[in-house]
Amino acid sequence: MNVINNIRQLRSWSSINKGTRCVFVPTMGALHDGHATLIRAAREIAGQNGNVAVSIFVNPLQFGPGEDFGKYPRTLVEDLALARDNGADMIFAPKAEELFPADRSIVLRETSLSQFLCGASRPGHFDGVCTVVTKLFNLVQCDDAVFGKKDYQQFAIIRRLVRDLDFNVVLHGIETVREADGLAMSSRNRYLNDEERAQAPAIRAALVAARDAWKNGERDPAVLPALITRHLQEHAPLGRIDYVSAVDANSLQAVSATTELVVIAAAVFFGTTRLIDNIELK
Ligand code: PAJ
Repeated sequence: MNVINNIRQLRSWSSINKGTRCVFVPTMGALHDGHATLIRAAREIAGQNGNVAVSIFVNPLQFGPGEDFGKYPRTLVEDLALARDNGADMIFAPKAEELFPADRSIVLRETSLSQFLCGASRPGHFDGVCTVVTKLFNLVQCDDAVFGKKDYQQFAIIRRLVRDLDFNVVLHGIETVREADGLAMSSRNRYLNDEERAQAPAIRAALVAARDAWKNGERDPAVLPALITRHLQEHAPLGRIDYVSAVDANSLQAVSATTELVVIAAAVFFGTTRLIDNIELK
């Protein structure tokens, strides 16, 4: 496995591997089983002859003031082992200065999908994600890229990015990987204290209860979030709901007559830790 931390070496890796299918998994490190599943999926897509590239970069642009950029877990040694064990061929782990010169002056702005859900409470977050993913796509020169559907809005926005900026990259969305009790795996779960950790699986349980109600015929998009809120108040009193919304899975806007798939997305604070999860209604 090649470990690369500067753009010059990455360009030379890309040119040596020109013509070989490259499947890319962008991450911020602190890798867990969710990331491992993405890397294994990339390995499968790349096949024996292809390359699996993984980036590890805590992107300063996507953290707002007061968010956890400074304390975001950085576990590079363990990350390299996990990536290698799950089939990565190349790791790109640059320093912030390598990607973002102090006098950089070009910005990307997503003007529609990022106004809802997480975007509403994290202004600028998805612009930062779009900027770094654009740079990483340009640098890694991948044919495919693999993202998790745990970050449902991020995946929808990356699809838009690829379409609107004409990236020749095929996207693959992977189902959320969970702990045994249903909690979606996240690098941020380690911030939870014991009591919070014990209550956090209620997010998944509430989403499943809403999906059950939907399966039993409940179609009012306002009733389902109310049901989730009640469930959380009862089973996770330490949780503070940021949002719970049932939206069109493509536009992330209000469910309409043309909606083919509804997704319910939720964000819940436990202390200062913000956890997200979602469920498709099908
Ligand atoms: P990060 O949070 O490290 O996640 C990297 C990838 O792993 C994302 O596609 C995310 O959706 C996926 N992932 C995280 N937890 C998962 C889980 N429990 N199950 C399945 N997939 C999971 O998302 C980012 O980094 C950044 O925003 C990034 C795209 C790298 C840009 O900086």
